[in-house]
Formats: sequence, structure tokens, C-alpha cells
Amino acid sequence: MYKVLVSDPISDMGIQMLYDATDVEVVKQPGLSEDELIAIIGDYDALLVRSQTKVTEKIMNAGTKLKVIGRAGVGVDNIDLEAATKRGIIVINAPDGNTIATCELTFAMMMSTARMIPQAYKKTVGGEWDRKFIGVELRNKTLGILGMGRIGSEVAKRAKVFGMEVIGYDPFLTEERAEKIGVKLGTVNEIVAKADFITVHTPLTPETRHLISKPQFDIMKKGMRLINCARGGIIDEMAMVEAIDQGIVAGAAFDVFEVEPPQHDHPFLNNPKIIVTPHLGASTIEAQENVAIDVSEEVLHILRNEPFKNA
Ligand code: NAD
Ligand code: MLT
Repeated sequence: MYKVLVSDPISDMGIQMLYDATDVEVVKQPGLSEDELIAIIGDYDALLVRSQTKVTEKIMNAGTKLKVIGRAGVGVDNIDLEAATKRGIIVINAPDGNTIATCELTFAMMMSTARMIPQAYKKTVGGEWDRKFIGVELRNKTLGILGMGRIGSEVAKRAKVFGMEVIGYDPFLTEERAEKIGVKLGTVNEIVAKADFITVHTPLTPETRHLISKPQFDIMKKGMRLINCARGGIIDEMAMVEAIDQGIVAGAAFDVFEVEPPQHDHPFLNNPKIIVTPHLGASTIEAQENVAIDVSEEVLHILRNEPFKNA
């Protein structure tokens, strides 16, 4: 029997195939500390995580039978990949399953910041009837997209339907593909200088850390709005707060933070121009099922020494 430990909340429907497999025993234990994981991981052949579990080198060293770690989502930044490689543990993710969920959250955030919906909601339920929330339309505005992979491309398609002009930057985006999806190409600084809205959809890497920082805020179009539903740290948080104070940025919507969860005194949390959500990009029933199905399939292949596609 292969033993699979599920250490984060992962859709039961999505991992049903693991429960159904006659050669697999599934144990669900979300919320374990690193020490608690270290104490039990030696019994397991596979570990399934979302983003809460930080899979450290110590955990992998204790996982003497561990063959595969499955990440039910895109980013593998909560897994020490170097340690996994050293120990020959295969790390797989689910790159496609939450694309639409995150794209749709990005759009919801863009519209919320354009029309200040959360701010207006807060006042209305607080008993105030404040009709001074004058927003902006998306139509005829320029949307800059940094990172034109799965999510960025889906955002671009929807923005076109809303009548926006879209300019994108991605080192791997060809002229041909850009033309096909109706996106103009630009450099980061060209986009920053022109866009009314900017949304980022890159991974967090040394190259993308603070991709938007003081030099970019200095050349930004006054009154623009920023969205980050990718990874905290791509936009320099402190530089953005300054840019809001200076009236450069009119509004921002962030689903992700440099440190999650943010401290209670984080400057985003009491700024009326900044909308925040607690890393909910992938949090739809559909996405959670999709990513769990994708990793479960691959984990089964790997445990059974069958060919697999994602590593
Ligand atoms: P993807 O790999 O399909 O796309 C990322 C794109 O970024 C690629 O096309 C890559 O070429 C591009 N890129 C890399 N370095 C770049 C740079 N320096 N400048 C510009 N572009 C660069 O990934 P995806 O599925 O579209 O996910 C995008 C981001 O969203 C990831 O960081 C992922 O972890 C995050 N994400 C967040 C949530 C959430 O819950 N908020 C959910 C899913 C994904
Ligand atoms: C991801 O990288 O897939 C996201 O952070 C979503 C998540 O797992 O919550």
C-alpha cells in the first residue's frame, strides 16, 4: 500500500481517485506544524499540499520513503526545490486548474478598484448613504499586463471584450502570439508610462521582485490603478503606498502580500484606496477540484512507476 498524506485543505472531490485506489491509503491531517510533520512524514510515500504547508529540507530529510510531493496549485514557492532535487523527490504542480479562477478574481479586483465597491459596501452597511463614489470605466482605457502566461493571456482576452486596449510584456511572448490575442507589446517602462490599469501575472523570481518600484512609480500615469493577484513582492509595497500618498496611484487591489498573512499594522490594511483579499485567487469550487484531480492523477502515476507529464 502507498501512503499519501494530505497536509492542507484540498478538495475531497478532487482527490476521490486516491480514496478509490485499492493500492493507496489517504490520511488527511491539515494544520500540522513543521515538527509534527517531521514526526510522521517517514511513514508516507507521497505528500499533497496547497500553499499553507512549507515543505522544508528538514521535512524532506525525515521523509525517508517520500517519492513525490504534489502541489495543488501553480506556485511551488512553498517547497524547497533544491532539497527535493538533492533527495530525488519528484515535485509536481497543477499549472492549469486555477487559471480561470485567478483570471476572474483579477477582473473582479480591477472592477472593484475602478468602482470602489468594497469601500462603498463598507459605508452602506455601516449606515451611511454616501453617493460620492465616482469611479472610472474600463472602456477605452489601457490595460498593461506584465506576465502573459496562462492567467495574463486570459485576462487580456476579457479586457478586449470590455473595450480596453491591452499592452503586454513577457520575455517569452512572440509578436505573432501577441497579435493573435490582440495585445500590443511594450517594455515594462513603456507600459508603466501608458497604462491606466496594470496587472501583474509573473512568478516571483529575482528578476520580477519589485518589477514595479520607485523608478516605475516615478514615470507612471497619474491616477492609474494597480492589481496584484500573482505573488506578493512583484510590486514594491512600500513604494506603492508612497505613490498613493503622492496621488500617482488612484487605487490598488492586492490578493497577495510580501509576507502572508500581513501584520495587523501593514499599511495596506487601513488605506481606503487599497482593496485586499486573503490570497483567494484559486479559491473556487471548480479550481480546487481541478487542481486536486490533476495532482492526484500524477501522484498515482509516480507511485505506480507509470509515465507522468509534470515535474
Ligand atoms: P504562467 O507560468 O503561465 O505565466 C507566467 C508568465 O510570466 C510566463 O509567461 C513567463 O514567461 C512570465 N514571466 C517570467 N518572468 C517574467 C518577467 N521578468 N517579466 C515579465 N513576464 C515574466 O503562470 P500563471 O499560471 O499565469 O500564474 C501567474 C502567477 O500567478 C504566478 O505567480 C502564480 O503563482 C500566481 N497565481 C496566484 C494565484 C492566487 O491565488 N492569487 C493563483 C494562481 C496563480
Ligand atoms: C497558486 O500558485 O496556485 C496559488 O497561490 C493558489 C493557491 O494555491 O492558493
